[in-house]
Amino acid sequence: MAKILFVSSEVHPLSKTGGLADVSASLPQALAELGHEVRILTPAYGDTLERLGAVPERSDWRDPVAGTTTRLRETALPDIEVPVWLLDAPGFSDRSGNPYLDAQGRPHPDNAERFDLLARTATAIAGGLGGLGWQPELIHCNDWQTGLVPVRMLQHRIPGATVFTIHNLAYQGLFPASAFGSLDLPQWLWTMDGLEFHGQLSFMKGGVGFADRLTTVSPTYAQEIRTPAHGWGLEGLLNRRAAELTGILNGIDHRFWDPSSDAFLPAHYDVRDLRGKAANKRRLQAELGLSQDPKAPLLGFISRLADQKGVDLLLEAIGDLLEQDLQIAVLGRGEAAYERALQRLASNHPDRIAVRIGFDEGLAHRVEAGADMLLMPSRFEPCGLNQLYSLRYGTVPVVRAVGGLADSVVDATPAHLESGRATGVTFQDATGSALLEAVQRALALYTQPELWRRLQRNGMRQDFTWQRSAARYGEVYEEALAERRRI
Ligand code: ADP
Ligand code: GLC
Repeated sequence: MAKILFVSSEVHPLSKTGGLADVSASLPQALAELGHEVRILTPAYGDTLERLGAVPERSDWRDPVAGTTTRLRETALPDIEVPVWLLDAPGFSDRSGNPYLDAQGRPHPDNAERFDLLARTATAIAGGLGGLGWQPELIHCNDWQTGLVPVRMLQHRIPGATVFTIHNLAYQGLFPASAFGSLDLPQWLWTMDGLEFHGQLSFMKGGVGFADRLTTVSPTYAQEIRTPAHGWGLEGLLNRRAAELTGILNGIDHRFWDPSSDAFLPAHYDVRDLRGKAANKRRLQAELGLSQDPKAPLLGFISRLADQKGVDLLLEAIGDLLEQDLQIAVLGRGEAAYERALQRLASNHPDRIAVRIGFDEGLAHRVEAGADMLLMPSRFEPCGLNQLYSLRYGTVPVVRAVGGLADSVVDATPAHLESGRATGVTFQDATGSALLEAVQRALALYTQPELWRRLQRNGMRQDFTWQRSAARYGEVYEEALAERRRI
């Protein structure tokens, strides 16, 4: 069992833009339950601090590069035993809202400095920061925001292993070359084998190139990112490190996502008794102003409105979809053009399409519970959590067979229905017509209540809890620690 510092830029419920936040709360807890000693390090954003009120200070230090004093505060998460250390420093604590973007949706101009400070703080903790009385043997880094952790560890010769998890290779943390100079990084890193990426500074390359072990969040995505189609230019490096790269599917946390106890739901249900699901549908239709028709299939879509999520495929298919007797509930925020197009559709069909633009945790749970199907036509999807939630909630996922979606949803082919393995409907092509066809297949199953129930129950019985995945991370930690001992 190891002492692990888990570093992430988002931790639910302190801050969240997507699935990284869910993983960063649940995985450390699952690791602690396996016997690892875990601490979480995350920035203290302004709104996080405001919500928490007074948070005790554990340590402070003067960062030599930024020339500012930073503080580490300690807090706890609801129902989670792992302590959380909040990095309270200018650049984080004086800003609220999206952790990476300003109010106009532009990246903060000092993101390189901000997230390098996170890396340097993690490194300082590994080096034995005063006041904490605790040093990790291994740092588990997540996504580009922590990409400089392995680099700083090597630069300052801090003993300790590093594991870097890629949650999404599409966001690489790229900065102009001038940022490299301002971060006081050793010059030898300004090469193709270092942090330079086509003339820019890449934080992602820090993680991918220098961590002892790499993981990503599903076995299929681990293969996909080694190809030009999904590698975003890093496929060569990832192929070189293929022996050190493992795909581990994310899990879900039943303390927050379980229809038998979910605090956001008006009615509860489970695999034995699904009656409460109909009550959730009724209430959701009322909440969203959709017509109160228990028979009309209700399709949910909960998502960041980004190209990744195939919003354009949905928009392309929606005209034809509306020729069927169905309703659509969308919850999301993101690119303005997508927001506008979806809102326009809703205002043209208010009793059949409901669109809520924004981030609404409770509504996300209620859509998962109240919808009959959940659409995820993603162009790529490293893992995806919503399809795992929807399986648990008896909401049949209709997904494009990529990344973690391919690893978690079994298509309702006649053979899979016969053998009892089917849990959803999958499609291959990234086109509106392929999505439409998949929905039509799902609708045909929906009209056969017995078959539909079986599909729902198959999904609800799947075990996507964290225990198994956390154990796999434990094995990767062992490899990383063994490698460090060898060096
Ligand atoms: P990603 O991390 O790529 O956005 P995931 O499926 O892994 O995709 O995780 C998305 C998480 O964010 C889920 O917990 C989902 O419920 C939540 N989510 C996404 N959009 C919204 C929204 N508009 N309001 C509330 N929760 C949302
Ligand atoms: C990323 C991916 C998503 C994954 C999440 C958590 O945001 O887009 O597929 O589930 O990280 O790992």
